[in-house]
Amino acid sequence: MSASPPPRRAGILGVGSYAPPQVVTNDDLAGRMDTSDEWIRSRTGIRARRLAAPEVATSDLALAAADNALADAGMSPSDLDLIIVATGTPDYPGSFPSTAAVVQEALGAKRAAAFDLGAVCAGFSYALHVGVQMVGTGANQNVLVVGAETFSRILNWEDRATAVLFGDGAGAAVVGPVAEGGYLGGILGADGSGGPLLNVAAGGSRQPLTCDGLAARANTVYQNGREVYKFAVKIMGEAAAQAVESLGLSTSDVDLFIPHQANIRIIEKAAERMGLPMEKVFVNLDRYGNTSAASIPLALDEAVKAGRVRRGDLVVLVGFGAGLTWGANVIRWSKG
Ligand code: UT7
Repeated sequence: MSASPPPRRAGILGVGSYAPPQVVTNDDLAGRMDTSDEWIRSRTGIRARRLAAPEVATSDLALAAADNALADAGMSPSDLDLIIVATGTPDYPGSFPSTAAVVQEALGAKRAAAFDLGAVCAGFSYALHVGVQMVGTGANQNVLVVGAETFSRILNWEDRATAVLFGDGAGAAVVGPVAEGGYLGGILGADGSGGPLLNVAAGGSRQPLTCDGLAARANTVYQNGREVYKFAVKIMGEAAAQAVESLGLSTSDVDLFIPHQANIRIIEKAAERMGLPMEKVFVNLDRYGNTSAASIPLALDEAVKAGRVRRGDLVVLVGFGAGLTWGANVIRWSKG
């Protein structure tokens, strides 16, 4: 797959994010399960995560991030004609109705079509790529692309191997036409043979949720951490480098690399494969943990707000996740 650009130039016109206020530290978790701050920090780089209050749904986080992104773009909801929400934790099972439709109503974005996109932790990379194509072909004018998750709802809080890794949050980008720069290209990939390595077994058509399934916590996240780690270490750097190089650019041209925030060791290996010093890598997983589809837009928004992204910079995003799936996006930052 080559990372060719769409016919009309499209780019990011505004970014925003939102994380729920409740901070849960590693020590807090050590008070409720057999783990320690030392183990979590040394194995993952995570120090804390945010958890949504019980009454807060994924769409609530998405809405707050969307409001921020629209304000950053100087737009109102009526400017949008498509909303894509990447999530593995939709408001309703099976995205029925989609979280994007809930966001559309809450925003009052009456002109916008809406759908959810499922690529779990690679969801934002997928959704951004799709949103850009929609603008690029002229099918849409302004697309809101959101990554939003409440993983706290699908974790088994008795399983220390997964419970300590994830957090809740949301990030959003408004995609529209740009005069120069913008989204240069990206690549998406999948290897369905790795599906059993990271999944929620019950609650879908394969295994509807029963009382036995509930008792076995089959409606929560299962992960073969070591195998996913091996896959992630290989694919992150490889996909990002491939996306950059297929555009005739070199990884040394990259100004800021924003990888999916799952594990600092995975991020360091990806940066190494790209030949990038850590100063060119944005990391915030120490404060948020792995927020799945929200992790990249949450990091992108923080990077922009921190002045780490300037007009003309080459910014590369890369995500990986359940599926297995991966995606990389190459952007010449056109705002600022
Ligand atoms: O976006 C989703 C993508 N997912 C990922 O990126 C996850 C990729 N995988 C990883 O990041 C790592 O595999 C983990 C952080 C999940 C685990 O690190 P690891 O170095 O692979 O540890 P491990 O699974 O091999 O476990 C080592 C030991 C085990 O004990 P024994 O069998 O050696 O006695 C685990 O039981 O660590 C134990 N352990 C824990 N100990 C304290 C597992 N979880 C914990 C914990 N606290 N939370």
